[in-house]
Amino acid sequence: MSPSMTALRRPTQSAPEIAAPKNSDGSLLRVENLRVEFRTPAGPVPAVDGVTFDLAPGEILGIVGESGSGKSVALSSIVGLTRGEASGISGSAHFGGLDLITASEKELRKVRGRDIGMVFQNPMTSLNPVRTIGTQLAEAISLHYKGLSRSELKDRVIAALRQVGVPAAEKRLGQYAHEFSGGMQQRAMIAMALVNSPRLVIADEPTTALDVTIQAQVLDLLVQARDELGASIIIVTHDLGVLAEIADRIVVMYAGRMVESGSVYDIFDRPRHPYTERLQACLPSLETPRKRLLTVAGQAPVLGARPSGCAFHPRCFLASDICFTEDPASTTVGDGHVASCHHSDLMAAHVKEDL
Ligand SMILES: Nc1ncnc2c1ncn2[C@@H]1O[C@H](COP(=O)(O)OP(=O)(O)O)[C@@H](O)[C@H]1O
Ligand SMILES: [Mg+2]
Repeated sequence: MSPSMTALRRPTQSAPEIAAPKNSDGSLLRVENLRVEFRTPAGPVPAVDGVTFDLAPGEILGIVGESGSGKSVALSSIVGLTRGEASGISGSAHFGGLDLITASEKELRKVRGRDIGMVFQNPMTSLNPVRTIGTQLAEAISLHYKGLSRSELKDRVIAALRQVGVPAAEKRLGQYAHEFSGGMQQRAMIAMALVNSPRLVIADEPTTALDVTIQAQVLDLLVQARDELGASIIIVTHDLGVLAEIADRIVVMYAGRMVESGSVYDIFDRPRHPYTERLQACLPSLETPRKRLLTVAGQAPVLGARPSGCAFHPRCFLASDICFTEDPASTTVGDGHVASCHHSDLMAAHVKEDL
Protein backbone atom coordinates (compact mmCIF):
# COMPACT_ATOMS: atom_id res chain seq x y z
CA MET A 1 0.00 0.00 0.00
CA SER A 2 1.27 3.43 -0.77
CA PRO A 3 1.65 5.90 2.07
CA SER A 4 -1.11 8.38 2.56
CA MET A 5 -1.04 11.68 0.76
CA THR A 6 -2.39 13.43 3.80
CA ALA A 7 1.25 13.59 4.91
CA LEU A 8 1.47 16.28 2.28
CA ARG A 9 -0.73 18.98 3.64
CA ARG A 10 0.24 22.47 2.67
CA PRO A 11 3.10 23.80 4.79
CA THR A 12 1.78 25.85 7.68
CA GLN A 13 3.99 28.82 6.89
CA SER A 14 2.05 29.28 3.76
CA ALA A 15 2.49 31.77 1.01
CA PRO A 16 -0.53 34.01 0.37
CA GLU A 17 -3.36 31.90 -0.98
CA ILE A 18 -4.82 32.50 -4.40
CA ALA A 19 -7.62 35.04 -4.25
CA ALA A 20 -10.27 32.40 -3.60
CA PRO A 21 -10.15 28.63 -3.86
CA LYS A 22 -13.09 28.63 -6.26
CA ASN A 23 -14.65 30.82 -8.90
CA SER A 24 -17.86 32.62 -8.03
CA ASP A 25 -19.87 29.88 -9.78
CA GLY A 26 -18.30 27.18 -7.58
CA SER A 27 -16.03 25.81 -10.32
CA LEU A 28 -12.30 25.53 -9.76
CA LEU A 29 -11.43 26.31 -13.37
CA ARG A 30 -13.67 27.76 -16.05
CA VAL A 31 -12.26 27.96 -19.56
CA GLU A 32 -14.30 29.96 -22.04
CA ASN A 33 -13.80 30.22 -25.74
CA LEU A 34 -10.06 29.67 -25.63
CA ARG A 35 -8.45 30.42 -28.98
CA VAL A 36 -4.73 30.17 -29.68
CA GLU A 37 -3.21 31.17 -33.03
CA PHE A 38 0.18 30.54 -34.52
CA ARG A 39 1.81 32.37 -37.39
CA THR A 40 2.11 30.29 -40.55
CA PRO A 41 3.30 31.25 -44.05
CA ALA A 42 -0.38 31.55 -44.94
CA GLY A 43 -1.08 33.89 -42.03
CA PRO A 44 -2.21 33.27 -38.46
CA VAL A 45 -4.02 29.95 -37.95
CA PRO A 46 -5.80 28.82 -34.81
CA ALA A 47 -4.43 25.59 -33.32
CA VAL A 48 -7.12 25.81 -30.65
CA ASP A 49 -10.46 27.40 -31.39
CA GLY A 50 -13.37 27.82 -29.02
CA VAL A 51 -12.43 25.43 -26.23
CA THR A 52 -14.90 25.81 -23.35
CA PHE A 53 -15.28 23.67 -20.25
CA ASP A 54 -15.43 23.91 -16.52
CA LEU A 55 -13.95 21.79 -13.84
CA ALA A 56 -15.43 21.27 -10.39
CA PRO A 57 -13.24 20.81 -7.32
CA GLY A 58 -12.14 17.17 -7.16
CA GLU A 59 -13.26 16.40 -10.68
CA ILE A 60 -11.18 14.49 -13.27
CA LEU A 61 -11.56 15.82 -16.80
CA GLY A 62 -10.07 13.96 -19.75
CA ILE A 63 -9.19 15.69 -23.01
CA VAL A 64 -8.83 13.25 -25.88
CA GLY A 65 -8.05 13.59 -29.57
CA GLU A 66 -5.53 12.49 -32.17
CA SER A 67 -2.06 13.92 -32.37
CA GLY A 68 -2.15 17.55 -33.56
CA SER A 69 -5.71 18.24 -32.38
CA GLY A 70 -4.57 21.05 -30.09
CA LYS A 71 -4.66 19.29 -26.72
CA SER A 72 -1.20 20.35 -25.58
CA VAL A 73 -1.59 23.87 -26.93
CA ALA A 74 -4.88 24.24 -25.04
CA LEU A 75 -3.44 22.92 -21.80
CA SER A 76 -0.20 24.85 -21.92
CA SER A 77 -2.02 28.06 -22.88
CA ILE A 78 -4.17 27.75 -19.77
CA VAL A 79 -1.03 28.00 -17.64
CA GLY A 80 0.52 30.72 -19.79
CA LEU A 81 3.19 28.56 -21.41
CA THR A 82 2.44 29.43 -25.04
CA ARG A 83 2.66 33.18 -24.60
CA GLY A 84 6.07 33.37 -26.20
CA GLU A 85 5.13 31.41 -29.32
CA ALA A 86 1.48 32.10 -30.06
CA SER A 87 0.61 35.06 -32.25
CA GLY A 88 -2.72 35.50 -30.50
CA ILE A 89 -4.43 34.08 -27.42
CA SER A 90 -7.99 34.98 -26.49
CA GLY A 91 -10.78 33.75 -24.26
CA SER A 92 -10.53 33.27 -20.52
CA ALA A 93 -9.52 30.69 -17.95
CA HIS A 94 -10.79 31.65 -14.53
CA PHE A 95 -9.05 29.86 -11.70
CA GLY A 96 -9.80 30.85 -8.13
CA GLY A 97 -11.08 34.19 -9.38
CA LEU A 98 -7.92 34.92 -11.43
CA ASP A 99 -8.08 34.92 -15.23
CA LEU A 100 -4.98 32.95 -16.19
CA ILE A 101 -5.15 34.22 -19.78
CA THR A 102 -4.73 37.86 -18.82
CA ALA A 103 -2.82 37.39 -15.55
CA SER A 104 0.69 38.85 -15.31
CA GLU A 105 3.73 36.56 -15.53
CA LYS A 106 4.35 37.29 -11.88
CA GLU A 107 0.86 36.11 -10.91
CA LEU A 108 1.22 33.00 -13.08
CA ARG A 109 4.57 32.10 -11.52
CA LYS A 110 2.91 32.14 -8.11
CA VAL A 111 0.16 29.82 -9.25
CA ARG A 112 2.22 27.35 -11.31
CA GLY A 113 3.84 24.71 -9.12
CA ARG A 114 1.84 25.78 -6.10
CA ASP A 115 -1.87 25.82 -6.97
CA ILE A 116 -1.40 24.06 -10.29
CA GLY A 117 0.93 21.07 -10.58
CA MET A 118 2.08 19.93 -14.02
CA VAL A 119 2.99 16.48 -15.32
CA PHE A 120 4.27 15.94 -18.84
CA GLN A 121 4.86 12.98 -21.11
CA ASN A 122 8.60 13.14 -20.91
CA PRO A 123 9.92 13.55 -17.35
CA MET A 124 13.23 14.82 -18.66
CA THR A 125 11.56 18.03 -19.82
CA SER A 126 10.72 18.78 -16.18
CA LEU A 127 13.60 17.20 -14.32
CA ASN A 128 16.93 18.96 -14.32
CA PRO A 129 19.69 16.50 -15.28
CA VAL A 130 22.42 18.20 -13.25
CA ARG A 131 20.65 18.59 -9.90
CA THR A 132 19.70 15.78 -7.56
CA ILE A 133 16.05 14.79 -7.31
CA GLY A 134 16.05 15.87 -3.65
CA THR A 135 17.40 19.34 -4.44
CA GLN A 136 14.83 19.86 -7.17
CA LEU A 137 11.94 18.86 -4.96
CA ALA A 138 13.23 21.06 -2.13
CA GLU A 139 13.46 23.99 -4.54
CA ALA A 140 9.94 23.34 -5.80
CA ILE A 141 8.74 23.77 -2.22
CA SER A 142 10.92 26.67 -1.14
CA LEU A 143 10.07 28.67 -4.26
CA HIS A 144 6.56 29.00 -2.88
CA TYR A 145 6.91 28.45 0.85
CA LYS A 146 9.67 30.48 2.47
CA GLY A 147 11.16 29.98 5.87
CA LEU A 148 11.00 26.20 6.14
CA SER A 149 14.03 24.73 7.89
CA ARG A 150 16.34 22.30 6.10
CA SER A 151 14.98 19.39 8.08
CA GLU A 152 11.35 20.38 7.43
CA LEU A 153 12.15 20.60 3.74
CA LYS A 154 13.88 17.24 3.77
CA ASP A 155 10.95 15.62 5.57
CA ARG A 156 8.54 16.97 3.01
CA VAL A 157 10.70 15.85 0.11
CA ILE A 158 10.91 12.33 1.53
CA ALA A 159 7.17 12.29 2.14
CA ALA A 160 6.58 13.42 -1.45
CA LEU A 161 8.74 10.64 -2.88
CA ARG A 162 7.19 8.01 -0.63
CA GLN A 163 3.75 9.15 -1.54
CA VAL A 164 4.38 8.36 -5.19
CA GLY A 165 5.91 5.00 -4.35
CA VAL A 166 9.61 5.70 -4.81
CA PRO A 167 11.28 3.01 -2.68
CA ALA A 168 14.12 3.92 -0.31
CA ALA A 169 13.27 7.61 -0.68
CA GLU A 170 15.96 8.75 1.78
CA LYS A 171 18.65 7.11 -0.30
CA ARG A 172 17.31 8.28 -3.62
CA LEU A 173 17.23 11.96 -2.65
CA GLY A 174 20.86 12.35 -3.59
CA GLN A 175 20.50 10.69 -6.99
CA TYR A 176 20.15 12.32 -10.38
CA ALA A 177 17.28 11.75 -12.81
CA HIS A 178 19.40 9.52 -15.04
CA GLU A 179 19.88 7.15 -12.12
CA PHE A 180 16.09 6.62 -12.05
CA SER A 181 14.29 4.23 -14.40
CA GLY A 182 11.67 5.69 -16.77
CA GLY A 183 8.84 4.75 -14.43
CA MET A 184 10.68 6.20 -11.41
CA GLN A 185 11.42 9.43 -13.30
CA GLN A 186 7.71 9.74 -14.00
CA ARG A 187 7.02 9.20 -10.30
CA ALA A 188 9.59 11.85 -9.38
CA MET A 189 7.88 14.27 -11.75
CA ILE A 190 4.50 13.50 -10.20
CA ALA A 191 6.05 14.05 -6.76
CA MET A 192 7.21 17.44 -8.03
CA ALA A 193 3.73 18.24 -9.31
CA LEU A 194 2.08 17.23 -6.03
CA VAL A 195 4.66 18.46 -3.54
CA ASN A 196 2.79 21.68 -2.75
CA SER A 197 -0.64 20.00 -2.65
CA PRO A 198 -2.00 21.79 -5.71
CA ARG A 199 -5.71 22.31 -6.27
CA LEU A 200 -5.34 21.41 -9.91
CA VAL A 201 -3.03 18.92 -11.60
CA ILE A 202 -2.66 19.07 -15.34
CA ALA A 203 -1.15 15.99 -16.93
CA ASP A 204 -0.27 15.99 -20.63
CA GLU A 205 0.01 12.40 -21.94
CA PRO A 206 1.50 11.33 -18.60
CA THR A 207 1.48 7.64 -19.49
CA THR A 208 2.23 7.63 -23.21
CA ALA A 209 5.93 6.78 -22.86
CA LEU A 210 5.39 4.09 -20.23
CA ASP A 211 4.68 0.39 -20.43
CA VAL A 212 1.22 -0.84 -19.54
CA THR A 213 1.78 -1.83 -15.91
CA ILE A 214 3.51 1.43 -15.10
CA GLN A 215 0.77 3.34 -16.97
CA ALA A 216 -1.78 1.90 -14.58
CA GLN A 217 0.34 2.85 -11.57
CA VAL A 218 0.72 6.43 -12.79
CA LEU A 219 -3.04 6.74 -13.32
CA ASP A 220 -3.59 5.36 -9.80
CA LEU A 221 -1.34 8.08 -8.41
CA LEU A 222 -3.41 10.75 -10.13
CA VAL A 223 -6.64 9.28 -8.79
CA GLN A 224 -5.03 9.12 -5.35
CA ALA A 225 -4.17 12.83 -5.63
CA ARG A 226 -7.83 13.53 -6.28
CA ASP A 227 -9.11 11.25 -3.52
CA GLU A 228 -6.70 12.31 -0.83
CA LEU A 229 -5.78 15.89 -1.66
CA GLY A 230 -9.10 16.79 -3.26
CA ALA A 231 -7.21 18.02 -6.34
CA SER A 232 -8.98 18.43 -9.66
CA ILE A 233 -7.20 16.83 -12.57
CA ILE A 234 -7.06 17.45 -16.30
CA ILE A 235 -5.53 14.56 -18.15
CA VAL A 236 -4.74 14.87 -21.83
CA THR A 237 -4.36 11.75 -23.94
CA HIS A 238 -4.76 10.41 -27.46
CA ASP A 239 -6.01 7.16 -25.96
CA LEU A 240 -9.66 7.12 -24.97
CA GLY A 241 -9.09 3.83 -23.12
CA VAL A 242 -6.89 5.62 -20.55
CA LEU A 243 -9.88 7.74 -19.55
CA ALA A 244 -12.50 5.01 -19.22
CA GLU A 245 -11.54 4.14 -15.68
CA ILE A 246 -10.63 7.46 -14.19
CA ALA A 247 -12.35 10.41 -15.89
CA ASP A 248 -15.59 11.95 -14.66
CA ARG A 249 -16.02 13.99 -17.81
CA ILE A 250 -14.43 13.94 -21.24
CA VAL A 251 -13.78 16.59 -23.87
CA VAL A 252 -13.15 15.26 -27.39
CA MET A 253 -11.06 17.50 -29.64
CA TYR A 254 -10.71 17.38 -33.39
CA ALA A 255 -8.65 19.83 -35.45
CA GLY A 256 -8.43 22.39 -32.65
CA ARG A 257 -12.08 22.34 -31.70
CA MET A 258 -14.22 20.52 -29.20
CA VAL A 259 -16.48 18.17 -31.09
CA GLU A 260 -18.11 16.56 -28.07
CA SER A 261 -18.08 16.81 -24.31
CA GLY A 262 -20.01 15.00 -21.64
CA SER A 263 -19.82 12.60 -18.75
CA VAL A 264 -17.71 9.48 -19.17
CA TYR A 265 -21.01 7.58 -19.60
CA ASP A 266 -22.23 9.95 -22.32
CA ILE A 267 -18.98 9.57 -24.21
CA PHE A 268 -18.76 5.79 -23.93
CA ASP A 269 -22.43 4.77 -23.97
CA ARG A 270 -24.16 7.49 -25.96
CA PRO A 271 -21.63 9.25 -28.20
CA ARG A 272 -23.32 11.85 -30.39
CA HIS A 273 -20.39 12.71 -32.64
CA PRO A 274 -19.16 10.16 -35.22
CA TYR A 275 -15.55 10.96 -34.33
CA THR A 276 -16.11 9.97 -30.70
CA GLU A 277 -17.66 6.74 -31.86
CA ARG A 278 -14.70 6.03 -34.17
CA LEU A 279 -12.20 6.68 -31.36
CA GLN A 280 -14.06 4.12 -29.29
CA ALA A 281 -14.12 1.61 -32.09
CA CYS A 282 -10.32 1.80 -32.03
CA LEU A 283 -10.16 0.47 -28.49
CA PRO A 284 -9.11 -3.16 -28.42
CA SER A 285 -11.89 -5.34 -27.07
CA LEU A 286 -11.66 -8.58 -25.16
CA GLU A 287 -13.24 -10.61 -27.96
CA THR A 288 -11.10 -9.21 -30.73
CA PRO A 289 -7.86 -8.18 -29.12
CA ARG A 290 -5.50 -6.42 -31.52
CA LYS A 291 -7.44 -7.61 -34.55
CA ARG A 292 -9.27 -4.37 -34.95
CA LEU A 293 -7.97 -1.42 -36.84
CA LEU A 294 -6.39 0.65 -34.11
CA THR A 295 -6.67 4.04 -35.77
CA VAL A 296 -9.49 6.14 -37.16
CA ALA A 297 -9.42 5.72 -40.93
CA GLY A 298 -8.15 8.76 -42.83
CA GLN A 299 -5.90 11.60 -41.81
CA ALA A 300 -6.48 14.42 -39.36
CA PRO A 301 -6.12 17.80 -41.08
CA VAL A 302 -2.87 19.69 -40.58
CA LEU A 303 -2.79 23.22 -39.29
CA GLY A 304 -3.90 25.66 -41.98
CA ALA A 305 -5.60 22.99 -44.13
CA ARG A 306 -8.90 22.77 -42.35
CA PRO A 307 -11.62 21.25 -44.56
CA SER A 308 -14.66 23.42 -45.25
CA GLY A 309 -17.86 22.92 -43.27
CA CYS A 310 -17.39 20.30 -40.58
CA ALA A 311 -13.65 19.56 -40.44
CA PHE A 312 -14.40 15.87 -39.87
CA HIS A 313 -16.48 15.41 -43.01
CA PRO A 314 -13.75 13.79 -45.18
CA ARG A 315 -13.53 10.93 -42.67
CA CYS A 316 -17.14 10.73 -41.60
CA PHE A 317 -19.49 7.84 -42.39
CA LEU A 318 -22.53 10.11 -41.91
CA ALA A 319 -21.35 13.09 -43.98
CA SER A 320 -23.99 14.67 -46.23
CA ASP A 321 -24.05 17.86 -48.32
CA ILE A 322 -24.50 20.22 -45.39
CA CYS A 323 -21.37 18.82 -43.73
CA PHE A 324 -19.25 19.96 -46.69
CA THR A 325 -20.36 23.56 -46.40
CA GLU A 326 -21.64 24.40 -42.95
CA ASP A 327 -19.74 24.38 -39.73
CA PRO A 328 -21.93 22.60 -37.17
CA ALA A 329 -22.78 24.63 -34.06
CA SER A 330 -22.31 23.05 -30.66
CA THR A 331 -25.64 21.74 -29.51
CA THR A 332 -26.76 20.51 -26.14
CA VAL A 333 -27.85 16.93 -26.68
CA GLY A 334 -28.34 15.94 -23.04
CA ASP A 335 -27.70 17.12 -19.53
CA GLY A 336 -24.11 18.39 -19.60
CA HIS A 337 -23.64 16.69 -22.98
CA VAL A 338 -22.69 18.83 -25.98
CA ALA A 339 -21.89 17.76 -29.55
CA SER A 340 -21.04 19.65 -32.75
CA CYS A 341 -22.47 17.48 -35.51
CA HIS A 342 -25.22 18.06 -38.08
CA HIS A 343 -26.25 14.47 -37.59
CA SER A 344 -26.13 14.02 -33.85
CA ASP A 345 -29.70 12.69 -34.03
CA LEU A 346 -28.69 10.06 -36.56
CA MET A 347 -25.81 9.18 -34.27
CA ALA A 348 -28.23 8.57 -31.40
CA ALA A 349 -30.17 6.13 -33.60
CA HIS A 350 -26.94 4.50 -34.86
CA VAL A 351 -25.69 3.89 -31.33
CA LYS A 352 -29.06 2.37 -30.33
CA GLU A 353 -28.92 -0.05 -33.26
CA ASP A 354 -25.50 -1.21 -32.13
CA LEU A 355 -26.72 -2.13 -28.68
N1 LIG B 1 4.85 26.69 -31.19
C1 LIG B 1 4.12 26.33 -32.24
N2 LIG B 1 4.19 27.00 -33.41
C2 LIG B 1 3.44 26.66 -34.48
N3 LIG B 1 2.55 25.65 -34.46
C3 LIG B 1 2.41 24.94 -33.32
C4 LIG B 1 3.19 25.25 -32.15
N4 LIG B 1 2.83 24.38 -31.18
C5 LIG B 1 1.89 23.57 -31.71
N5 LIG B 1 1.64 23.91 -32.99
C6 LIG B 1 0.68 23.26 -33.89
O1 LIG B 1 -0.60 23.28 -33.26
C7 LIG B 1 -1.29 22.08 -33.55
C8 LIG B 1 -1.74 21.44 -32.26
O2 LIG B 1 -0.60 20.93 -31.59
P1 LIG B 1 -0.68 20.20 -30.18
O3 LIG B 1 -1.52 20.99 -29.24
O4 LIG B 1 0.71 19.93 -29.77
O5 LIG B 1 -1.42 18.84 -30.54
P2 LIG B 1 -1.71 17.60 -29.61
O6 LIG B 1 -1.19 17.88 -28.26
O7 LIG B 1 -3.20 17.43 -29.64
O8 LIG B 1 -1.03 16.45 -30.27
C9 LIG B 1 -0.37 21.23 -34.37
O9 LIG B 1 -0.70 21.39 -35.73
C10 LIG B 1 0.99 21.80 -34.08
O10 LIG B 1 1.85 21.61 -35.16
MG1 LIG C 1 0.29 16.88 -27.17
